[in-house]
Amino acid sequence: MATPRRREKGNARQQRPRPRKGRAASTPTLETPRLLLRPLTLADAAQAQILFPHWEIVRYLTNDVPWPYPPDGAYRFFHDVVLPAVKRGEAWHWTIRLKTAPKKVIGGIGLMLRAENNRGFWIVPPCQGKGLMTEATEAVTDFWFNKLGFPLMRVQKAAANAASRRISEKNGMRLVATTERDYVGGRLPTEIWEITAKEWRAHRAKRQRL
Ligand SMILES: CC(C)(COP(=O)(O)OP(=O)(O)OC[C@H]1O[C@@H](n2cnc3c(N)ncnc32)[C@H](O)[C@@H]1OP(=O)(O)O)[C@@H](O)C(=O)NCCC(=O)NCCS
Repeated sequence: MATPRRREKGNARQQRPRPRKGRAASTPTLETPRLLLRPLTLADAAQAQILFPHWEIVRYLTNDVPWPYPPDGAYRFFHDVVLPAVKRGEAWHWTIRLKTAPKKVIGGIGLMLRAENNRGFWIVPPCQGKGLMTEATEAVTDFWFNKLGFPLMRVQKAAANAASRRISEKNGMRLVATTERDYVGGRLPTEIWEITAKEWRAHRAKRQRL
């Protein structure tokens, strides 16, 4: 296996974030102007099993996603991986719904205690390109910094994933490192972006003034 090429700019290395005393362990419902973000439950697996396993959704997700996707893939992932991590206080996961149709899941977003990837998301193709994931990322990033109290958020993405890169830009993040990772669609150049709590608060204040 090829050794990942890695270029680190400045002080790009990050320790795994440590929970702060008194950190909110549970995942609350979050609201944005158009969206409801509801804490993910096992009951959501049935909808996710239909919506999630499509090439345009999985191609730039890391190859932890089994492909071809098994018939119980969503249930197993939620039951064996996501919900235990939530219970341990190491992850916070939501389903994404439109306020106008709150029973229907349209995507998912999660926060994780990982050294180089603290946030992941997907949304069904008919809902893409409408600024919805930008809205969802703003709500969960606020939660990461202002409720969980972490000092830094890092996210990882395939360099070719233009929509995801653009969300990082719109979130006010900085590109801090490049490497390679294995995705469902193969091994690809990868970018690591980050933002500090201070930068996030300044970014939010600036956006609210506009
Ligand atoms: C990445 C993803 C979540 C984006 O969701 P979305 O709701 O469409 O995102 P938004 O509409 O909030 O923002 C997307 C931005 O990327 C831009 N964009 C989309 N495709 C683009 C492309 N091919 N080239 C350049 N910019 C692009 C959009 O124009 C928009 O920017 P703008 O608001 O400045 O116009 C969605 O495409 C998805 O679910 N992809 C599959 C899963 C995935 O890759 N997840 C991320 C893993 S890191």
